[in-house]
Amino acid sequence: MKIMILGSGAREYSIALAFKKIQKDIEFYFMPGNGATKALGMNLNIKDLNELANYAKEINIDLCIVGSETFLADGVVDIFKNLNLNIFGPSKAAAKLESSKAFMKDFLKKYHIKTARYLNTKDINEAKKFIENLNLPIVVKADGLCAGKGVIIAKTHQEALEETQKMLSGESFGEAGKCVIIEEFLKGFELSIFAICDGEDFVLLPVAQDHKKLLDNDEGPNTGGMGAYAPSSLANQELLEKIQKNIIIPTLKGMKEEGAEFCGVLFAGIMVVNEEPYVLEFNVRFGDPECEALMPLIENPLELILAATQKNLKNIAVKIKNQCAVAVVCASENYPYKASPKSEIHIKNIPENSHISYAGVSLEQDKLMADGGRILVCVGLGENIQEAKNKAYELCANVDFKGKQFRKDIGFWVCQ
Ligand code: AMP
Ligand code: GLY
Repeated sequence: MKIMILGSGAREYSIALAFKKIQKDIEFYFMPGNGATKALGMNLNIKDLNELANYAKEINIDLCIVGSETFLADGVVDIFKNLNLNIFGPSKAAAKLESSKAFMKDFLKKYHIKTARYLNTKDINEAKKFIENLNLPIVVKADGLCAGKGVIIAKTHQEALEETQKMLSGESFGEAGKCVIIEEFLKGFELSIFAICDGEDFVLLPVAQDHKKLLDNDEGPNTGGMGAYAPSSLANQELLEKIQKNIIIPTLKGMKEEGAEFCGVLFAGIMVVNEEPYVLEFNVRFGDPECEALMPLIENPLELILAATQKNLKNIAVKIKNQCAVAVVCASENYPYKASPKSEIHIKNIPENSHISYAGVSLEQDKLMADGGRILVCVGLGENIQEAKNKAYELCANVDFKGKQFRKDIGFWVCQ
């Protein structure tokens, strides 16, 4: 079987690793992949999506999985489907749930799905009026994709206005910020919900929790994500039922009505306020590093993804192992501010029930080099979060590169 995976992170690595455990004979093609995916398959360097689709057709791939949102926003699914290729991910129109926060908020409003009260605007005067009437803090978001950095939580009305101005002028995020969403701050706890969808049916994966801040105790700047654990005990059955009934089902139905059926991973960022789930955002692909924690817990990930592309999810159940996973991101010295110098990665040994998913790494004369922001993810497995956390941190201690930084408290609160 030939599988193409689009993206270069630990998320894409972890998908390949999970599939390889189930089925040994898969040939993987990564575009672009990283220095470590070369050991699992072949890295491609075909940036033009039409060319990439032609190549996929030529080598006769069985499945393409889109890891990263930028490919989706650029319409890779439509291009592959035009050539009758089997691809897992939403069309460009459906990917707007992530690529345009303004579209997403208006969609939620139209289909009566709970979300924070908001205003979409390109006009500073309209923004000013709305900001003046909000309680503090105030959330200001850029409409377009900003690699997870397009959300500002302003502590004063003045700051909210200044940030809005900087976005609208293009100073903060270029074109992506020229439309802004201003919204009320919701106070509660956050959950990441992942549903594998085939347009009509879906299966829920275990609830995972990300840690977006750079430093322990949720301090410091926002990052792409510094660690995750799953399953999270924060979601009880009643809450999960509400999320399915009030969020996932109406979203799939609504997208179908909009003529943009949703097939792929619907990743809902949820804020639970007084036991009611509100949508903070949608992503249209697996979260990173949530994926690295989830993949080892699912017994049949390939079967699920294939069923989703064949619109056959109603006949498949998700099989979850009775285990827990903790994923700790090791990042480079200057992450997330600026690039760090390359340095060699040394690994003493990999303890049982743990493994590494690689991200920002390159190969130099057969040496694996730290060469990026988030370098690698140490994943530990166990019967409970405590055990999984201990394994992940045991592995972390065995991995070294210059300037390595990681959070020491991933999964910590669950174990208290
Ligand atoms: P988003 O990319 O929209 O999920 O925003 C990134 C992070 O900002 C979220 O994970 C939340 O921690 C925070 N956030 C976004 N919107 C709100 C909101 N309306 N109220 C409180 N926190 C928010
Ligand atoms: N972990 C958050 C994301 O992938 O967007």
